[in-house]
Amino acid sequence: MNDRAPVVAVLPAAGSGVRLGAGAPKAFVELAGVSMLARAVDGVLASGVVGHVVVVVPVDQVPDAAGLLAGRPVSVVPGGADRTSSVAAGLAAIGSGAEVVLVHDAARPLTPAGVIRRVVDAVRAGAPAVIPVLPVIDTIKQVDADGVVMSTVDRSALRAVQTPQGFRADDLRRAHAGTPDPRTDDAGLVEALGDPVATVEGDPLAFKVTTAWDLRIAELLLTGAAVEPAEGRR
Ligand code: C5P
Repeated sequence: MNDRAPVVAVLPAAGSGVRLGAGAPKAFVELAGVSMLARAVDGVLASGVVGHVVVVVPVDQVPDAAGLLAGRPVSVVPGGADRTSSVAAGLAAIGSGAEVVLVHDAARPLTPAGVIRRVVDAVRAGAPAVIPVLPVIDTIKQVDADGVVMSTVDRSALRAVQTPQGFRADDLRRAHAGTPDPRTDDAGLVEALGDPVATVEGDPLAFKVTTAWDLRIAELLLTGAAVEPAEGRR
């Protein structure tokens, strides 16, 4: 694959956003006046390495999303009941020209261009599947159904996984062929085939907005508002 191989991004944005509690599908929730969906799409396009974006939204939101994203090189398709089927719907809408496919959560609207470029560069350099990762900084424990600790996990070999995840288009299609079990990421489908998945450095700014806390953090990062120091530490 050459270093200019065409790249298409699939943005799953069909989640309900129940954990966010904002009363709207998560992708349409605004961050400092701009929807997460528009921020995520514009972030991907601003990387300069992605030619087209397929956005996957709840079926009743397709017209709204198309209106919101008008003027951009984007197609909008309806999603499925879980993330894996939403990505499969996006993948089915990609033309045959794409050699590299990125799958990127719309819920990671602050992802820096550098992460996107690192993933694309690694796929173009020959890796069939690439994920951005960060080291795990907390101590991790395994607990039983009652919450009692069973063991402490060696965190040195653990990584927290972000998106965009990048794939050779044919390999991702193969991983999604049939009706795969729902997974929380696409690299999991590639792993299930026994194929290698490479890692590149992620970025704390690529965090996923899941809860009201995450939304607040994202807004503070965007507006540059100072955070009050905790009581007693002024
Ligand atoms: O549920 P979670 O926050 O992990 O979702 C990650 C991404 O997958 C989000 O961008 C969400 O909109 C998307 N998703 C989807 N279709 C679903 C469920 C989640 O596109 N049915």
